[in-house]
Amino acid sequence: MSILIKGGRVVTAESDYVADVYVEGEKIVAIGSNLPYTAERVIDASGKLVFPGGIDPHVHLDMPFMGTFSSDDYETGTRAAMHGGTTMVIDFILQTQGDTLRNALTTWQAKSRGKAIGDYSYHMAVTDFNDDVAKEVVEMITQEGITSFKTFMAYKGALMIDDGQMVQLMKVVKENGGLVTVHATNGDMIDSLIAKNQALGNRAPIYHYLSQPEVTEAEASGRFADMLHYTGCPGYIVHMTCEGALNAVRKATSRNQKVFVETCTQYLVLDASLYEQDFDGAKWVMSPPLREKKDQAALWSGINQGLVQVVGTDHCPFMWDQKKMGMDDFAKIPNGHPAIEHRMELLFSEGVNKGRITLNKFVEVSSTNAAKIFGMYPRKGVIAIGADADLVVFDPEKEHTISVDSHHMNVDYSAYEGWKLKGKTETVLLRGQVAIENEQCHLKAGSGQFIPRGKTSLTV
Ligand code: URP
Ligand code: ZN
Ligand code: ZN
Repeated sequence: MSILIKGGRVVTAESDYVADVYVEGEKIVAIGSNLPYTAERVIDASGKLVFPGGIDPHVHLDMPFMGTFSSDDYETGTRAAMHGGTTMVIDFILQTQGDTLRNALTTWQAKSRGKAIGDYSYHMAVTDFNDDVAKEVVEMITQEGITSFKTFMAYKGALMIDDGQMVQLMKVVKENGGLVTVHATNGDMIDSLIAKNQALGNRAPIYHYLSQPEVTEAEASGRFADMLHYTGCPGYIVHMTCEGALNAVRKATSRNQKVFVETCTQYLVLDASLYEQDFDGAKWVMSPPLREKKDQAALWSGINQGLVQVVGTDHCPFMWDQKKMGMDDFAKIPNGHPAIEHRMELLFSEGVNKGRITLNKFVEVSSTNAAKIFGMYPRKGVIAIGADADLVVFDPEKEHTISVDSHHMNVDYSAYEGWKLKGKTETVLLRGQVAIENEQCHLKAGSGQFIPRGKTSLTV
């Protein structure tokens, strides 16, 4: 199949120009003015933006968590992502404590094989580190193309590893060219605050927020940066929410250390006032919780200062009945919210349209930097000859309203109900195939491929 995207404003992390993009098979073959190609399909992109497909490196699909499973699986989750212009996701495999990484990989391959609509990869969450697991880490990097290893400094008894395990893991990962990522919050401190609130009979969702104050994230982020410095391992902090944690990373830069940082759309556009209501606040029970307006400002600045490189979603949806598991106890509300579909459009509307970030920065943090950090560049994350033809034709003027009635995620409420956005994904290509057109998904389950990854190539 050949496709000519004609006359769009082609935006990458570095450039911005009007051109045609010619696609043959899965790849971009030519870019230029008035290209002399006859294609099987011509897409008129005049007046539209053309971006590289979005990459969301933080999603949880069909994940066992807090006694239930996140409600989007690989099919529904990657389809919803595609509707919003995200052509690739990186999901988290969870090692079961006491079990092998290999078994965990097999489980996640069964969840994704034949189901994904968009491309995908996995981070491997190491929840139990020992000498045998160290050998498996090497195997994952050298044989499976899984080069990022997720760690949790919270969720004790289920996912958390201690600092000794963390340092040993970092050493192995560094020696083999991988990257350690982290959920950086002080688990012991949070557990004690949760227990205190429960003992006092404080059961509403707002106590989830009050049990995870900013210091729990700032402390753990600084500790993680120190351990990275000690081991020399590259690291990436997921879902950063607050000024204190960002300042811990800023401090690490003063010893010439680079720690990659991801924030998520919700931390840029929502704040903790949403918890000041009854059980409805459960829609935004996630970890870490939403923060204050001053934290939103710090994160937007962090993006522009180059301290925050990536905007993901931490998409981890639960049906309302699942959220109700915590009706009488905030600590039993499954943590997470649905967001995979709206990341690019929210970031464009709230970020670019409101003058907080440039168009180039938008592409950098929604696609290019994730491709570089997670070892997929220049196959992914860029509009260039030879890259995968993952492309988004985007209408910057189109206004629309987010609603549970029109979203494609498998969840029965929206965390952004009634939000009015300007800028909408119009057409999406995945490796040269038309994935989204006229608000319909044209790809079948199984169209998405596992993308093996290499070493990080972002050196800023
Ligand atoms: O609330 C969240 N973030 N749920 C998913 C698990 C995690 O910590 O990322
Ligand atoms: Zn987390
Ligand atoms: Zn997460």
